[in-house]
Amino acid sequence: MAESFVMAMRNKCESDRKCDAVVIGGGVIGLAAARELGRGGLRVTVLERGGQRHGAASPAAAGMLAPQAEANEADDFFRLQCAGRDAYPAFAGELHAETGIDIELDQTGTLYVALTEEDEMELTRRHIWQTQAGLTVERLTGAEARRIEPALSPRVRMALRFATDWQVENRRLVHALTAAVKFYGGTVWEGVAATRLRLERGRVAGVETERGILSAPIIVLAAGAWTSLLPFATAGGESSAHHAPGEDVEMPEHPRVEPVRGQMLCFRSSLPTSPQPPLASGHVIYSPRGYLVPRRDGRLLAGATTERVGFDPSVTAAGRDTLTAHAIEIAPAVISELPLVEAWAGLRPRAADERPVIGASLAVPNLFYATGHYRNGILLAPLTATLIAEIIIAGRVPPLAAPFTPARLGRAAACAGSLSHAGSF
Ligand code: FAD
Ligand code: GLY
Repeated sequence: MAESFVMAMRNKCESDRKCDAVVIGGGVIGLAAARELGRGGLRVTVLERGGQRHGAASPAAAGMLAPQAEANEADDFFRLQCAGRDAYPAFAGELHAETGIDIELDQTGTLYVALTEEDEMELTRRHIWQTQAGLTVERLTGAEARRIEPALSPRVRMALRFATDWQVENRRLVHALTAAVKFYGGTVWEGVAATRLRLERGRVAGVETERGILSAPIIVLAAGAWTSLLPFATAGGESSAHHAPGEDVEMPEHPRVEPVRGQMLCFRSSLPTSPQPPLASGHVIYSPRGYLVPRRDGRLLAGATTERVGFDPSVTAAGRDTLTAHAIEIAPAVISELPLVEAWAGLRPRAADERPVIGASLAVPNLFYATGHYRNGILLAPLTATLIAEIIIAGRVPPLAAPFTPARLGRAAACAGSLSHAGSF
C-alpha cells in the first residue's frame, strides 16, 4: 500500500516531469501559495496531513478582513494588511470563476464598539491616527451605532464604523482554494504528513513523508503553527530533532513559530434551510475584548481566546464562559436568546514579532517560508500567495514583502525543529 502510493507519486512526478514545487501545509496560506504557483505555470503538490483535528487555524478562524479594527499604527504591517484586504474582491471573483465556489465576501463593514471609558479612549486614539492616515473611518455615538445595529447593548458608549473592514466564510475559502489548486493542475495529497526535509549539498533534496519521499526543486513550508517542528535530515540519517549539541553537523534552522490557541463559539439564529441573518445590520461587531461575526447561513460566531497552551486544540469550560461573557457584553439580548450549537479551537501560528514570515530560507536556497500569519492569515492569504510566488518565480522580493522575509529574524527567533511548547496565560 505504502509502496504503491510512493510509486504513484513518483510516477506522477516523473511522467509529468514537473513536480516543480511541494507545498507543506494545506491551510489557506499553503493552498493560496500553491494556487498562485499553479497560475504561474508550476506543477504543485500540496501535502496536508488532515489538520482540523489537530487544531489547524484556517477552518477555525472568524474570517474577518479587518486591518483597521486590528492594527494599532500605520506601519509596514498595516500597509500589508490593507493591501491584503484590497486584493479580496478580485480574488473572490477569480476563485468563483475557477471553482464555482462563493467564498461569501461580505463588504457590509465592521462596527468597533466602546463599552467602558477606557475603551472609549482607545477608540478615540484609533479614530485620530486613522483619520490622520486618510483612512475611511466614521465616529458614531452609542445611539447612532444602535440605529445601525439594534442588537447592540445599551451600554455601548460610542463606536467606530470601518466601511472597508470586511469578512469571508473561511471554510468555504479552504474548499475553494483546494479546488483552485487542482484547477491549475496541482495535486492536494490529504492525510499525508511531511516528516523530515532531507538535505543534500545544502538543498532540500526530498520531503520525507509517512509514505515515501517526494522530490521537487522548490519546497514551500506553510505548516502554520507546526512550521518549526519539521526536522531536517541528512542523507546520512542525522536529524535536527536528534542532533546533539557538539556534533559537527550543522543543521539549518526554521524561523520559530509558536501556537497560540483561539477558541470560538458558534450560535445559530435559524436553520440553514431557511437562513435568517443573526444580526439585522450584517456588520461584524468588534470590541476590545471579543467579536461577533454574523454569517449568511444564520450562524453567529463569537471569538476568540488568545492562549499559549502549546499544541492543545481543546475547547474548555473557561474558554466558553469567557467568550459568552464578552459576547453578552456586546449584544446581550441576541446572545441570551440564541442556542449555542458548536465550539472549536484553532492554533494561530505566531512568530516572535507577531508578523508573517514570507520568503527564502537564509541557509537552504530552495526552501521558502509562508508562515507566521498569527491573527491575520485569512486576510493575508491572497497577498501572501502573490508575494511568495513573485519571490520564487521572478526571484525578487517585492517591496511589500521586504520587511517580512525570514532575514529579519535573528537566531533567537529560529530553531532546528521539534520544539516543545508549554505555558499558558
Ligand atoms: P493552518 O491553517 O494552521 O494550516 C497549516 C496546515 O499545515 C494545517 O492544516 C496542518 O495540518 C498542516 N501541517 C502541519 N504540519 C504538517 C506536516 N508536517 N505535513 C503536512 N501538513 C502539515 N485570521 C484572519 O485573517 N481573520 C480572522 O478573523 C481570524 N480569526 C481567527 C480566529 C481564530 C479562533 C483563530 C485560531 C485564528 C484566526 N485567524 C484569523 C488567523 C488565521 O486563521 C491564521 O493566521 C491562518 O489560518 C493561518 O493559516 P496557515 O495556512 O498558515 O495555517
Ligand atoms: N483575528 C481574530 C483572531 O485571531 O481571533
